[in-house]
Amino acid sequence: MDRFEFQNPTRIIFGRDQVERAGETARELGSRLLMVIGSGSVRRNGVLQRVTDLMEQAGLKIIFLEGVVPNPRLSKVREGIDLSRKFDVDLICGLGGGSVMDTAKAIAAGTKIQDDVWDIFLGKKEIDSALPVMTIPTLAASGSEMNGFMVITNEDSGLKLAAGSIHTFPKVSILDPVLTFTVPPNQTAYGGVDAVCHLMEPYFNGTYPDTPIQDSIAEALMRNIINATTGALKDPGNYDYRATMMWGATLALNGLTKAGVGEHRFPVHMIEHAVSAIFDIPHAAGLAALLPGWMRWKTARNEGEKIAHMGRNVLNTETKGSSETGAKAAISTLASWLREIGCPASLGGLKITQEDHEKIADIALVQANIWGINNIYNKETILEILSFCQ
Ligand code: NZQ
Ligand code: ZN
Repeated sequence: MDRFEFQNPTRIIFGRDQVERAGETARELGSRLLMVIGSGSVRRNGVLQRVTDLMEQAGLKIIFLEGVVPNPRLSKVREGIDLSRKFDVDLICGLGGGSVMDTAKAIAAGTKIQDDVWDIFLGKKEIDSALPVMTIPTLAASGSEMNGFMVITNEDSGLKLAAGSIHTFPKVSILDPVLTFTVPPNQTAYGGVDAVCHLMEPYFNGTYPDTPIQDSIAEALMRNIINATTGALKDPGNYDYRATMMWGATLALNGLTKAGVGEHRFPVHMIEHAVSAIFDIPHAAGLAALLPGWMRWKTARNEGEKIAHMGRNVLNTETKGSSETGAKAAISTLASWLREIGCPASLGGLKITQEDHEKIADIALVQANIWGINNIYNKETILEILSFCQ
């Protein structure tokens, strides 16, 4: 196990009807709250009304920022920063999916810096403080509720970039699986895929050779998330499937499974962020389209052994034969599951063609440069991976 430092300051309040604690919990952190929401799901299902009633009863003044869209935009972050400063807000609440939570975090950090908030995404400026953030996720997917990351799209430059810091971890997140009962089938499937991919990236890319604890935890989470996603699609109001998805997605990207795996990056996410920046598709539709192809590329480089191992331990695939045979069986089982739950398993499934590869690679390269992994993931390599994903 490699050296690591693990710190996760987010308090989690989990379980059925725990959303009822929104008022008292917010009051512990602030008194003038900016409520960040998406394009209306929380209005339609009554969750916004309930949460704001509870918060107002607890004595909070609420200012609203509505209309965050999937692949959240920098302009909305700027609007939120202006509101936050104008009303001297002391707490930001993200009530929604990853897009809403990420916007809430970017506003929290952006309110505190004098410079342009985009500089933190370009890696030009460190985040050294942020307003306190509270999240109430309504979708199990991103893991944003228990990490310090945020991913924002700059609509002027066409870049979608990630940033993060210890200061942007939510102070508290209320995880009530009941809030996810209304998530439609496609978003339910994407949520499961996103969480599985968050587990797979450190699992496959970690550079330390011997990490049995991390591998076992990641495999157990992958297995449970896959089963619960399939289950929730058949029975959307099943509390236990939704609870497994929700806690599974949170644990998948809260730092636990990657601690100790050594130096690693998220290449599938890096390339996907370029895909969703260009085509404005759901994040995990892009991941599903890339994941099997990226695994085929790894296998072609003689790096299929761990893929075969994952196949045996997570997907119950072939146990006999070479690692190449095992890896191919794992990839094929994974792709079948993706198709079964309605996700694309190739770029062609998203109507993306070979002609688009150049542009995707150019944008992915910007993140590779910021992350300092352009030595491995240079343009030529990214294009090669994309050809395996086509
Ligand atoms: O906008 P509303 O009306 O709320 O509808 C949303 C949206 O259309 C809907 N939705 C959410 N909860 C619902 C619901 N519909 C019905 N009932 C509910 N309970 O779902 C749609 C998708 O929402 P979005 O927030 O975009 O989805 P997700 O949670 O998958 O977040 C995706 C974003 O997170 C980023 C992605 O890049 C993408 O921009 N990520 C953030 C990460 C992080 N902060 O750690 C890591 C991830 O890898 C990811 O990159
Ligand atoms: Zn993701």
